[in-house]
Amino acid sequence: MFYMKKTIAVMCFGLILLRSFVSYAQDIPIGKSEQFDAIYTYEKGDPNGIGKWYMGREIAYVMGYQGIGWLERTAREKEEKTTRLLSNMYIDAADVIADIGAGSGYHVFKMARITTKGLIYAVDIQPEMLIAMNSKIADSAIKNVETILGGERSINLSENSVDKVLMVDVYHEFSYPAEMLASIKKALKPEGRIFLIEYRGEDISVPIKTIHKMTEKQAEKEFEAAGFVLEKNIDNLPWQHCMIFKLK
Ligand SMILES: C[S@@+](CC[C@H](N)C(=O)[O-])C[C@H]1O[C@@H](n2cnc3c(N)ncnc32)[C@H](O)[C@@H]1O
Repeated sequence: MFYMKKTIAVMCFGLILLRSFVSYAQDIPIGKSEQFDAIYTYEKGDPNGIGKWYMGREIAYVMGYQGIGWLERTAREKEEKTTRLLSNMYIDAADVIADIGAGSGYHVFKMARITTKGLIYAVDIQPEMLIAMNSKIADSAIKNVETILGGERSINLSENSVDKVLMVDVYHEFSYPAEMLASIKKALKPEGRIFLIEYRGEDISVPIKTIHKMTEKQAEKEFEAAGFVLEKNIDNLPWQHCMIFKLK
């Protein structure tokens, strides 16, 4: 029964991705060498990958807005223990938090209830995700959420503006991970923290496609290169790493 449920979960996630591949990485033609592009290589790999590689990892396609139903599924709390994830962040009422790749705002609105004296920047690259979040904001009394249209290389937030950055199941989709981390580094306050949530690549029992998972080793390698150090990896979520990075 357990394995049947897992298989169904993988199939559903796979279907959502197949239906909703969105490529935001087509501005650099494969094989063309640009000055900043030397850190990336191009080779056909996983069918769910964009054929672009960074530090030995193939980047995954962006999950399209058609997957909103999956992000908002009621089973998510049980499957991913999202309340526990937020308690791992020790959110203060005055915190300014950037949720990068916020999607439909699953974590945004939960965090906004805690940051009563702070602010949540909900950043996403798909305008449809911002429309979904803005309509929730319009239908409620929420005043502390600001939606921001992000870019492929920038989170579009000002320097030294955030206490915490949350990224849930998104980093592996960034088509320019090095540039995105440089942009996050600028926006983060010196004592700030990044909470990187990724499905555990080391664990074959996690019912998610390999390209949508990450190992701690790979994440640490990429974040180290960007000037961050892994403070700890909290091992209390059923499927995901909860890695906390700080500035070196
Ligand atoms: C798998 S969804 C996760 C959404 C949300 N974090 C959640 O857990 O419900 C990944 C999201 O990241 C967004 N995304 C991908 N690349 C991005 C980028 N460079 N900047 C901002 N958002 C990005 C996608 O549009 C998508 O909404």
